[in-house]
Amino acid sequence: MRVVVLGAHGKIARHLHGKLSARGHSVRGLVRNPDHVADLEAAGVEPVVCDVEAHDDISEAVGQAEAVVFAAGAGPGSGVARKWTVDRDGAIKLLEAARKNGIRRYVMVSAMHLDQPRGDEVFRTYLRAKAEADEALRESGLDYTIVKPGRLTDEPGTGRVALGPDLPRGEIPREDVASVLAEVLDTPATAGHSFDLVAGETPIRDAVEAVVRG
Ligand SMILES: NC(=O)c1ccc[n+]([C@@H]2O[C@H](COP(=O)([O-])OP(=O)(O)OC[C@H]3O[C@@H](n4cnc5c(N)ncnc54)[C@H](OP(=O)(O)O)[C@@H]3O)[C@@H](O)[C@H]2O)c1
Repeated sequence: MRVVVLGAHGKIARHLHGKLSARGHSVRGLVRNPDHVADLEAAGVEPVVCDVEAHDDISEAVGQAEAVVFAAGAGPGSGVARKWTVDRDGAIKLLEAARKNGIRRYVMVSAMHLDQPRGDEVFRTYLRAKAEADEALRESGLDYTIVKPGRLTDEPGTGRVALGPDLPRGEIPREDVASVLAEVLDTPATAGHSFDLVAGETPIRDAVEAVVRG
């Protein structure tokens, strides 16, 4: 399968590329910064420079594929404005490009507990922006899966997680998030599902299968 990743030089995305290649998929990675092209090429990813805030229509950069992954984010150093232009509008531009290009499958890196306002104004805006992006995706008609991780860490992945519709707050290594994204992409029956994701005891494949079984 051909997969397009937006935010392809992000920390989760860089864990994801190798996992997708190992499963026999090819990856096109959309990056904002041209300096990141060489890193993607070295990882076997086809790089395309695309600043999602600079274009209304990103369908040409997305191209033809079987699935798209939204792994971008304005990041902790950004202000209120970029929560809207990247975290919400970037995700929506990706779904519009997917629809235009006939790509049915969309996997979203969201975040857990978006409906529980907390933190400062910037963080509360981030939560609203992510919630609006998720809502737009649910209403898009696409075959979506919304993965909602807890606080991300750079610890090595364990291959074991907890997945569920409403989990208590927790942490999760970015590498395990990437492993879940890869498993979700290979499990079409996860379409239509949204779930929280934190560290846990269940092997990732079993946890994803359990979500599908309900
Ligand atoms: N931090 C947490 O605890 C937490 C918890 C749950 C969910 N999440 C979500 O998980 C997402 C991914 O996490 P991560 O650690 O992999 O994030 P990350 O390393 O910050 O990666 C985000 C990527 O988005 C890219 N980006 C920013 N603006 C862009 C634009 N205008 N056009 C194209 N790409 C753009 C960035 O590119 P540059 O490298 O050029 O800046 C960066 O490579 C976060 O953004 C967040 O929404 C985070």
